[in-house]
Amino acid sequence: MFLLDFRCHSRFSTSIGCGCALVFLAGLLGCSGEKIEYRANFLHAASVMSDSGESEIQYMAQQASQAATELLGPIDAPEWPADIESVVDMGKVRRSAGPVGRDQSKVENGLFRKHCVQCHGLSGDGFGPAAALLAPYPRDFRRGSFKFKSTPIGRKPTHADIVKTLENGLPGTAMPAFRTLNESEEFAKDVDALAHYVRFMAIRGELERRVLVALANGDSPQGHRDLLSRVTNDWREADSYAIAVPEWKTLSETELAGSIARGKELFQSELTACSKCHGVNADGKGISQDYDDWTKDWTIRAGIDPANKAEWKTMKKYGALKPVLDPARNLHLGVFRGGSTRQDIYTRLVVGIEGSPMPAVARKLNDNPGLTEENILDLVEYVLSVSSLPVSGPAPTGEVKDERSL
Ligand code: HEC
Ligand code: HEC
Repeated sequence: MFLLDFRCHSRFSTSIGCGCALVFLAGLLGCSGEKIEYRANFLHAASVMSDSGESEIQYMAQQASQAATELLGPIDAPEWPADIESVVDMGKVRRSAGPVGRDQSKVENGLFRKHCVQCHGLSGDGFGPAAALLAPYPRDFRRGSFKFKSTPIGRKPTHADIVKTLENGLPGTAMPAFRTLNESEEFAKDVDALAHYVRFMAIRGELERRVLVALANGDSPQGHRDLLSRVTNDWREADSYAIAVPEWKTLSETELAGSIARGKELFQSELTACSKCHGVNADGKGISQDYDDWTKDWTIRAGIDPANKAEWKTMKKYGALKPVLDPARNLHLGVFRGGSTRQDIYTRLVVGIEGSPMPAVARKLNDNPGLTEENILDLVEYVLSVSSLPVSGPAPTGEVKDERSL
C-alpha cells in the first residue's frame, strides 16, 4: 500500500515537471483510477523513530494511519465516532471530501479535490504536485497548527479564521483568494464546507501523529479514542480564546504623526526586538533568521541540520521538502498575509504568527516590562506607514526568493 501511494505522488511531480497537463489531471483525479488512500505520515514516523530501519518506519506509519482511518473513516468516506461529540459538520466534510462530482440534487461534491489538492495534497499533507515549486510551501494541515488566526499561539483557529483565509487567500503566497472566483451564495456554502474539511483533516492529522508516538512508545491501542477526544477538545475551546480587537478612533494628522513616531521608536527598541528580525528600517534585513515549525518538527526531532544537504536529503524519501528559511517580512512591500487592516495588523502583533519565528508581543503586566495597549496601537500605525514608503537600497530578500535546487 505504501508503494502504491508513493508512486502516485512521484507521478504527480513528474507530470508537472514535463508539463503534461493530461497526465497531471489524471493524477489529480486519482492516479488513473487507482484506489485512493490517505498517505501515511512517513516523515513524522521517520523523525520520531530516527534510530529505526526504513521498513519499521513505514510499518509504524501505516499502522498509525490505519488507526486514524478506523476512527475517522477512509479518505473518500469520512466518518465520526458516535461516542465522541463532534466539532465538525460531517455533512459538510463529506461534501468536501472524495471525488469531484454532483449528487442527485446537483449539489457539487469533492470541493477539496477540485480546488485545493494540487497544492495541499489529497491527504492535506501539503505535498500536492505543485508543492515543491512554491515558496512558502503549501500548508501541511496535519500538525494542527495555523498561522493566521485570532487566537494565541498554542490555541486552535476559530472557524471564522479559516473561512477568512479561504475567502481572502494569503497575499504574497500561492494560497489563492477564493472570494474572487465566485461571489454567489453557493460560494459561501462551499467555503464554509471547506473550512469544516480543513478542520477535519487537521484533527485526523494530529490524531495520526499522536497515535504514532503512542505506538512508538508501546502504549495500548485502547487509548486512541482518548487521543481523538483530546484533539477535538482543543478545537471545541478555540472560540473562547479569540482576542478582542479594539475599535479604531480616527486620528488627526498630528496625532497620527505622533503615533507613527512613537511606533518607530518602539519598533527599533530592545523591548520589542522587531528590528532584530525585520531590520532597523523594517526592510526585512534583520540579523535573525530561522526555519518554521513545520521544518523544525522533523529536523530537530531527528537531529538533522536543515542547512546540510547530505543530512536533510536522508529524509526526502519520507516526504521531506528542502528546508527553506522563513524570513521576516520586508514591511515596505505592504503585503500582509493575514490582512492589511489596522485590526488585522493588531491581531498579528498581539497573537504572533504560530509556527513561524514571529512572536506575540510581550504585554505589560503589573511590574513586568512589556507593551501597553497604546504602544501596540502605535506599532500598528508605524507598520502601516512604512508600507507606503519607497524602499531604499538593493532589492529586499522576500518570500519570492527561491534558491532551491530540486
Ligand atoms: C496554488 C496553491 C494553493 C491552492 C490551490 C490552495 N492553497 Fe492553501 N495554502 C497555500 C500555501 C502556499 C499556503 C501557506 C502560506 C503560508 O505558509 O504563509 C497555504 C495555506 C493554507 C491554509 C493555512 C492558513 C493558516 O492560517 O495557516 C489553509 C487553511 C489553506 N491553505 C486552505 C486551502 C484550501 C481549503 C484550499 C482549496 C479551497 C487551498 N488552500 C488551496 C497554497 C495553496
Ligand atoms: C524573531 C523574529 C521576529 C520578531 C522579533 C518580529 N518578527 Fe515580525 N515576522 C517575523 C517573521 C519570520 C514573519 C513572517 C512569518 C510568516 O508569515 O511565515 C513576520 C511577519 C510580520 C508581519 C507580517 C504579517 C502578515 O500578515 O503578513 C508583520 C506586520 C510583522 N512581522 C511585524 C512585526 C513587529 C511590529 C514586530 C515587533 C513588535 C515583529 N514583527 C517582531 C519575524 C519576527
